[in-house]
Amino acid sequence: MTPEQFRQYGHQLIDLIADYRQNIAERPVMAQVEPGYLKQALPSQAPQQGEAFEAILSDVDKLLMPGLSHWQHPDFYGYFPSNGTLSSVLGDFLSTGLGVLGLSWQSSPALSELEETTLDWLRQLLGLSAQWSGVIQDTASTSTLVALISARERATDYALVRGGLQAETRPLVVYVSAHAHSSVDKAALLAGFGRDNIRLVATDDAFAMDPQALRAAIEQDLAAGNHPCAVVATTGTTATTALDPLRAIGEVTQAHDLWLHVDSAMAGSAMILPECRWMWDGIELADSVVVNAHKWLGVAFDCSIYYVRDSQHLIRVMSTNPSYLQSAVDGEVKNLRDWGIPLGRRFRALKLWFMLRSEGVEALQQRLRRDLDNARWLAEQVEAAEQWRLLAPVQLQTLCIQHRPEGMEGEALDAHTQAWAQRLNASGAAYVTPATLNGRWMVRVSVGALPTERGDVQRLWQNLQDVVRG
Ligand SMILES: Cc1ncc(COP(=O)(O)O)c(C=O)c1O
Repeated sequence: MTPEQFRQYGHQLIDLIADYRQNIAERPVMAQVEPGYLKQALPSQAPQQGEAFEAILSDVDKLLMPGLSHWQHPDFYGYFPSNGTLSSVLGDFLSTGLGVLGLSWQSSPALSELEETTLDWLRQLLGLSAQWSGVIQDTASTSTLVALISARERATDYALVRGGLQAETRPLVVYVSAHAHSSVDKAALLAGFGRDNIRLVATDDAFAMDPQALRAAIEQDLAAGNHPCAVVATTGTTATTALDPLRAIGEVTQAHDLWLHVDSAMAGSAMILPECRWMWDGIELADSVVVNAHKWLGVAFDCSIYYVRDSQHLIRVMSTNPSYLQSAVDGEVKNLRDWGIPLGRRFRALKLWFMLRSEGVEALQQRLRRDLDNARWLAEQVEAAEQWRLLAPVQLQTLCIQHRPEGMEGEALDAHTQAWAQRLNASGAAYVTPATLNGRWMVRVSVGALPTERGDVQRLWQNLQDVVRG
């Protein structure tokens, strides 16, 4: 494709995206296709000769669109908001178009310095002190893996330069709440802690980690000759957006010299609202925190922000320094390859920068406040309605709900819940996520897609009441 052709087709593609976003409400929210539908429709081998771009775009429309669940749809209440503001989409487009890589500061100075600057802007917006510095990772899963590797190395005085974990005499232990995201468990396994050394700490009635139980678990491990290493707390758990009490947890981690990592992948966005900062009171006691700008905040996926208080430790763990990557200015600059696992780095900061500059902080704050208000409104309707129940406090924008007809419980209630959620999703009128809580099925309604306004939430409430009738 020549630059001239790119200009022509690029305009068509931008038109396609703009039309898609403008008319998205007309589409069923959840994909209505059967497994294998696309594989059957596509040729089994790549074309020998290039095809017309129009033919490719036509297949996007005919073949791909029906197979998409539409996350940017006003009736999307599934999983969590993964908002891709159009300003950030343009930043992403530019990043790919420029095709530059940040292997070192020297390999793309603007890439490194824009990342440093935008993450410092965001740090201030989140209310974090100047002690913190950040780096963009692909996902929270990677950020948490990096945190647990760093924790492991701090606790072992850099075992990786000796025999690694295999030479440790006492097993290292990680503590997480039973409501932590599955990526935390996965990170602990990948960082080499082993299933036997992951402790699930008890939670309270609001599904938040109990600091007394944490303290007791650590003391039990010490008595057994184990080596307590790290705690992963969550601000905004996935199922219920529960808030682990960071201050009390931080006091325990400081007393025992444990690493505290805070998974704030989803709820971190709310910290741009000063009135929400109580939710992570005590964050300054943590060693690392992850906030996914690619969730509610609105940066097109992927853009996970990992902040650490001691960047020297991170660099010591992650650093590699082959001769072809060294430069005369290394002493003066940040080489972001030393801040995480991959060597190559996309120009991801562009999409954050585009969004922050184009939308402005006030508009972002206003959107998040709108979503919190909408969630509160829906919670009030659910609470006031007969046979409906809220199963967890609505502290942010997620509701855990159940419709419980008179006398129905146990497996019958589970079957009823799954059936109405399935009917609602299959209707295309809304997309919600059925999930289990305390072993029973409920439905998560996650408010906060970009175009979702109060009228959409009112329509959802009507749809919910209709769909439970069967
Ligand atoms: C609390 C929490 N942590 C971690 C994750 C995983 O995020 P990612 O897909 O960026 O790895 C999610 C989202 O799914 C989440 O809600």
